Amino acid sequence: MAAVTELTRADELRAFGEMVAGCTKCALAGGRTQVVFGAGDPNSDLMFVGEAPGFHEDKQGVPFVGAAGKLLEQLLAGIGLSREEVYIANVLMCRPPGNRDPLPEEIQACESHLWRQIELIDPRVVATLGNFATKLLSGRPTGITRVHGQEQEVTLGGRRVLLYPIYHPAAALYTPRMLEVLKSDFARLPELMGREVPPPEPVYVAPIGAEPAVQLGLF
Ligand code: URA
Repeated sequence: MAAVTELTRADELRAFGEMVAGCTKCALAGGRTQVVFGAGDPNSDLMFVGEAPGFHEDKQGVPFVGAAGKLLEQLLAGIGLSREEVYIANVLMCRPPGNRDPLPEEIQACESHLWRQIELIDPRVVATLGNFATKLLSGRPTGITRVHGQEQEVTLGGRRVLLYPIYHPAAALYTPRMLEVLKSDFARLPELMGREVPPPEPVYVAPIGAEPAVQLGLF
């Protein structure tokens, strides 16, 4: 990729981050220390999407810097990556009080910020961490226990990507069995990052008044 394109992508991302730093689209704006924008390599092929900032993220303004973040870093190191080499974002950019679950209206208010980041980063693989990110980005209600480790090709932010749901590191902090599952799901990431995702089939729009077979796209 040309250096000029990379510069533009990083610049656009920075400008977008500055714009959403003043977001007041939901009530979480009233209780936050700051908006926690995504962080990492804007040119990465791998993007993680977590749930929401916690206490430490809210204070430092960086996603995944608390205990779950330390585990995420260890899991990344296990596949030869550092957090600087991937891009890490969240479903919500502001901390819910007491770390409660995100509310539907908060997710709805924040989701355009996430789509825009996906559009700008243009990753090959989007790994969703836990239920909230998985349900939002898959558009399905199926929970993480049933879908973890199962990649699927989807269109996100106008891009074809491999969506790869995995457990949230916080869930594995005190549960050794879950940590083993998370490690084995992580181990597949390098292979998934090397996989070509074909562009979507072009949609043929038949001219008005065309024969039914033409309208069906048979010719
Ligand atoms: N958990 C998340 O989902 N995101 C963070 O940024 C930190 C903890």
